[in-house]
Amino acid sequence: MRGGRGGITNMQTPYFQIDIKRLERNLERLSWLEKESGVKILHTLKSFNHPKIIPLIASKLSGFSVSSLIEVNMAIEANAQNIHLYAPAFKEDNLKELISKVSTLSLNSLSQWERFGNGDFSPEQRRQSLPIPSNTSIGVRINPKLHLPIPSYCNPNLSYSRLGVDYQKFLETFNLDEFKNLEGLHFHALFQSSVEGASILLDHIMAHYQNILPQLRWVNFGGGHNFTDKDYDTKRFIELSKNFKLNYPHIQLYFEPGESVLRDTGEFVATVLDIIDSIVILDTSIETHLLDVAIVNQRLKVKGTQISSTPYYYELTGNSCLQGDIIGEYFFQKPLTIGDRVVFEDMMSYTMVKMTRFNGMEFAPLIIYNFSSPVEPL
Ligand SMILES: Cc1ncc(COP(=O)(O)O)c(C=O)c1O
Repeated sequence: MRGGRGGITNMQTPYFQIDIKRLERNLERLSWLEKESGVKILHTLKSFNHPKIIPLIASKLSGFSVSSLIEVNMAIEANAQNIHLYAPAFKEDNLKELISKVSTLSLNSLSQWERFGNGDFSPEQRRQSLPIPSNTSIGVRINPKLHLPIPSYCNPNLSYSRLGVDYQKFLETFNLDEFKNLEGLHFHALFQSSVEGASILLDHIMAHYQNILPQLRWVNFGGGHNFTDKDYDTKRFIELSKNFKLNYPHIQLYFEPGESVLRDTGEFVATVLDIIDSIVILDTSIETHLLDVAIVNQRLKVKGTQISSTPYYYELTGNSCLQGDIIGEYFFQKPLTIGDRVVFEDMMSYTMVKMTRFNGMEFAPLIIYNFSSPVEPL
């Protein structure tokens, strides 16, 4: 039985639920944006990788962005059209297995470039020594050090970030001899960004890489684009992309959002087990189902609460033995009682992928539903 957008009322909690209709709505927008702008949009698998759902995502977008052998295999299994690989560092053996399965490889540092872009995995080497010859196009991830208001836990622009080569150092080091095999640049520099972020990144590229652009086949603008936000200025995005294409028709632009693919497509549902004064203990834990809360100190949206004060103030907490298992303080519109359901909104990305069994808690299953078909428990 369904409880409307609030939840599926007869399921045992805790569980995640995804509304396929809402996911399809996001995917339609993204694939429309691809067509209108000429860019390619990849889903970032680390944000969401449920095996029952990713084939649908693969069928609508241009491919997946992945970071490991397991993710490459998931992408192949889901029938992804193209696979784009990046990780902060690769082991040689691993890369040997991966390189012929992916379309692009982004290396994170000058020393990884030295070993794998220029040396062991250069096009000549790849043709001669790999079990399966590979046409993978290799690039470097750059840290453009943009000054953007991004929380530091997820800001790869920091000057001491280990993610990507400092762009000044890259430009100082670049020469046609050592970088003759370079075919791409990868920038993951944005976070929940409006079109302004893409525009700032584009300005950075136009200002600094004019001598490198002629040899490139692709530029990857990373994730952090709020494409499925209703306020995202798609018209401006299309203009910017088309304009770039006019000047650099040989370069394919890639974008690899995670969060915006799944934005507002599903919830996490838990039950009130006990109430001690105003402390509510739920049948979940930030350690097991809500790890993003612990790692990035994120404030979750809870259905039936409001920002301004009401008489129904509660501290929502988890059922693990850690004192710090505190989800947050909320003002509810109605009093809570034992057995009530608490619905956390917009919970599809970076949650299920991080689940643990700490304290012997069960993984929360994903329920797939839409408003016109019956509920399908997994
Ligand atoms: C390299 C890279 N690309 C893409 C993404 C997806 O970012 P988002 O989910 O913010 O769109 C991430 C997220 O951490 C990332 O590290």
